[in-house]
Amino acid sequence: MSEERLEDYILGHISEEPEYLRLITRSTNLDVLNPHMLSGHLQGRVLSMLGRMLRPRRVLELGTYTGYSALCLAEGAEEVVTIERNDELEERIKHNLSLSPFGGKVRPLTGDALAIVPQLEGLFELVFIDADKREYNDYLDVVLPKVPAGGWIAADNTLWDGHVADPAYDHDKQTLGLRAFNDRVAADKSLATVILPVRDGLTLIQKLR
Ligand SMILES: C[S@@+](CC[C@H](N)C(=O)[O-])C[C@H]1O[C@@H](n2cnc3c(N)ncnc32)[C@H](O)[C@@H]1O
Repeated sequence: MSEERLEDYILGHISEEPEYLRLITRSTNLDVLNPHMLSGHLQGRVLSMLGRMLRPRRVLELGTYTGYSALCLAEGAEEVVTIERNDELEERIKHNLSLSPFGGKVRPLTGDALAIVPQLEGLFELVFIDADKREYNDYLDVVLPKVPAGGWIAADNTLWDGHVADPAYDHDKQTLGLRAFNDRVAADKSLATVILPVRDGLTLIQKLR
């Protein structure tokens, strides 16, 4: 069976994508560069479910893009702080947040996550890493002190279309960044780690101590 057919079947048998998220997908596809970066229906419902399961008080997201995943995470959280480096997206993010009943829980920040995260006060029970693939280990360095023992980190795209396990990509910087991240979290005994082969790979990590 083709992958598309199975994906259609899955999408037909999970919770519906809310209308405001469909609108965000449509406008992102029409007006924004690299629309494939948006989480989409399946991953969005996975993030929403993670929020419902883990009930984090505060969520931190690295890589807002057009706000889709932040709104999914906001369904189960009290507050989502989300950081986007591309300031051209600022007005679009604000507008997209205003379309959702959960938009009021999302605090968008503009700038480099590596500079902003160390300045943030307090802890985040869940962090979603979804920014520059070359910087995943740098994000982990700044994020780990902000996660309490028992808290979680989810990292997107960690299989990178299978490139992480393909020697043909040994010189690709994004692949190398993700491999280094995957190797590090697997080896770190203070973390519990699993990779879900959802979409492009979603790694779930619990900080044990
Ligand atoms: C894959 S997209 C995020 C998709 C979004 N989380 C979603 O699921 O709809 C990655 C985003 O990270 C942003 N980004 C890359 N490096 C960053 C950094 N160091 N700090 C903040 N944002 C960054 C990019 O500009 C881009 O918009």
